[in-house]
Amino acid sequence: MPREITHEATGPKIVDEDDIGEKGDIAICMCGLSGDYPFCDGSHRATADEDDGKLYKYEGDDDENTRHEIAEMVFTDSD
Ligand code: FES
Repeated sequence: MPREITHEATGPKIVDEDDIGEKGDIAICMCGLSGDYPFCDGSHRATADEDDGKLYKYEGDDDENTRHEIAEMVFTDSD
């Protein structure tokens, strides 16, 4: 079942090296675009030129993360 999840972050959450021992820094994906979720794979770079106040939809399960600007988000249970 597909679902829509909104992410506003444009970069990862860096886990402190001291929290994970000998593995070093781990970056957790906060943008939702990573192909290696929950870890960051750099796909967030696709959000670098997003404009404030606009809505975007990224689609596809490939590395392309095709982006579309959307006019509005409408909820069926809203008044
Ligand atoms: S924060 Fe999502 S891929 Fe880097």
